[in-house]
Amino acid sequence: MGEAVGEAAEPPGAGAPAVPLRDLGDGVMMPVLGLGVWQLSAGRETEQAVEWALEAGYRHIDTATFYRNERSVGAALRAGGIPREQLFVTTKWLPLRRDPAAEIGRSLERLGLDYVDLYLIHWPLPGRTGRGWRAFEAIRERGLARAIGVSNYGEERLAGLIAGARRSPAVDQVHFSPLHFPAALLASCRRSGVVLEAYSPLERGRALAHPVIVGIARRLERSPAQVMLRWAVQHDVVVIPKSARRERIAENARIFDFELAPEEMAALDRIDPGAAV
Ligand SMILES: NC(=O)c1ccc[n+]([C@@H]2O[C@H](COP(=O)([O-])OP(=O)(O)OC[C@H]3O[C@@H](n4cnc5c(N)ncnc54)[C@H](OP(=O)(O)O)[C@@H]3O)[C@@H](O)[C@H]2O)c1
Repeated sequence: MGEAVGEAAEPPGAGAPAVPLRDLGDGVMMPVLGLGVWQLSAGRETEQAVEWALEAGYRHIDTATFYRNERSVGAALRAGGIPREQLFVTTKWLPLRRDPAAEIGRSLERLGLDYVDLYLIHWPLPGRTGRGWRAFEAIRERGLARAIGVSNYGEERLAGLIAGARRSPAVDQVHFSPLHFPAALLASCRRSGVVLEAYSPLERGRALAHPVIVGIARRLERSPAQVMLRWAVQHDVVVIPKSARRERIAENARIFDFELAPEEMAALDRIDPGAAV
């Protein structure tokens, strides 16, 4: 579980190299690049972004009940015509609602899918983790989600969940960027075989002028966004940048044909030597 493997099953879109896959166990392979769709409006904006992502070689979409655009994601995936088994769809349980077993059914209905590839607890709720996780284990056993995981779990909470679980979470999705680098969580996920997934890997667009990032981008003739995404991928972290723009969606996918040198990785690591989740 958690090993990086080299190739994508499907050729990517124009000019973009193949997206590597991570092994989540039980034959579930997760593309290390996905499109995040938080803050894309339901309807045309979401549909178009997903369509452009498929065109650029993305096969992985990250949505959530909270984002209110599952229906549009589903519509765009159907319109894209890519075989279901080549897609990787994540959605998330809104923990404010009581029953994950009922909620997954509603998400699947909105997405128009029989199963999702990854179902996440969107954020931890104090005191409810054990009960919520047992419902997640049952959802996986029923085949409604091929893999199950969590989001916004720090080291301690994650260790507590694993200790009481029949099945460990496959993924922890957390804020992860050179300006928010949870190095200790990354190390503990590696030890426990949990794949770390980066949300806000571009710091929501606010770090693209950082001098260290810009300096490396200039040297490599890449964009600051590509440098930030490549840094996360070289830490074996899955990235799900969001963009509503076709050219940026394509740009964010062109991160598998260059490499950051160890000293460039170290310089980016030093921007934030260790954030708590
Ligand atoms: N689990 C959680 O609690 C959680 C929390 C936050 C996010 N997420 C997930 O993670 C995804 C990504 O995080 P995020 O949306 O917070 O932020 P992000 O991906 O770090 O940044 C998105 C911002 O960067 C801009 N951008 C994208 N590509 C760019 C490029 N190449 N050059 C310049 N600017 C660029 C976008 O603007 P344009 O759209 O105008 O291009 C947008 O404003 C979300 O969509 C969601 O799926 C999960």
